[in-house]
Amino acid sequence: MRLIKSVAEMQKWAVKNGRDCGIVPTLGSLHEGHASLIKKARSENGLVVVSVFVNPLQFKRDKFLAYPRNLREDMALAKKAGADVLFAPSADDMYKNDFESQIVLPKMFKTLAHQGLEWHYRGVLAVVMKLFQIILPARAYFGLKDPHQLALIERMVADLNVPVKIRRCETIREKSGLARSSRNALLTAEERKAATVIYKSLELAKARLRKNGHGNLRGVMSEMKKLIHAEKTARVEHIEIVDPASFLPFDKKSKEALVFTAVNVGGKRLTDNLRFTLPVSPRN
Ligand code: PAJ
Repeated sequence: MRLIKSVAEMQKWAVKNGRDCGIVPTLGSLHEGHASLIKKARSENGLVVVSVFVNPLQFKRDKFLAYPRNLREDMALAKKAGADVLFAPSADDMYKNDFESQIVLPKMFKTLAHQGLEWHYRGVLAVVMKLFQIILPARAYFGLKDPHQLALIERMVADLNVPVKIRRCETIREKSGLARSSRNALLTAEERKAATVIYKSLELAKARLRKNGHGNLRGVMSEMKKLIHAEKTARVEHIEIVDPASFLPFDKKSKEALVFTAVNVGGKRLTDNLRFTLPVSPRN
């Protein structure tokens, strides 16, 4: 596996090899979730590029500085999962010349505005677009673990005719149901146990919605909240139940439901979601 640190060198490689490659953009601190994306890319492309870049545009300054960086371990994991190139540029190299251009978020993502997260997702779109332009891949792999991010990227690619196929990848979980995340490493043993309530709350919502349809979303959300708050260290930051095709509230016309939650466990924000179809019933 080759390590490329400079944007210019990556572009040189891409001009020759880009159209035969799949990319897996990451922030580093790679885990089994990332490995599953790399393996999927390996099975569908001649060449696989994994990018490791802590993107300053999508973090507040303190979180940017605190984000764990383990390039050596990332290289070992990426190589084992089947990557050909690991692209790890510096922030200065990525954002030179007073970088300013922005991609505006489509209106459908109102819930992100409610959470005050628009700036974060604008930063994500900017870096993803830059990675597409630098590496010129045929395919790019993203996790369903981050449903808003994935939907925004799919929309950007469709709206701007970006010639990259976006491939969705399932969320990888621990046996306990806890979704794999770089943030899990920051949890104490007790918090890690408490965090398993997040997936349980999603399963609870799924069971309720499958039984009762779209009728009582508020009731379902408050049941989720009650279950989560039974854990001392866990506090709900956000819950939404939407139609993943529109990101509008789940209703009787929806074919699929997406239940998303952000939960603060011991000061760490963990997110998870479950997406499922509903059996057609007269109640729906
Ligand atoms: P990061 O959090 O490192 O995630 C990189 C990719 O791995 C994302 O597509 C994410 O959805 C996926 N992923 C994370 N945890 C996963 C899990 N448990 N199962 C399956 N896939 C998982 O998301 C980002 O980085 C950044 O915002 C990025 C897209 C790289 C832009 O900077």
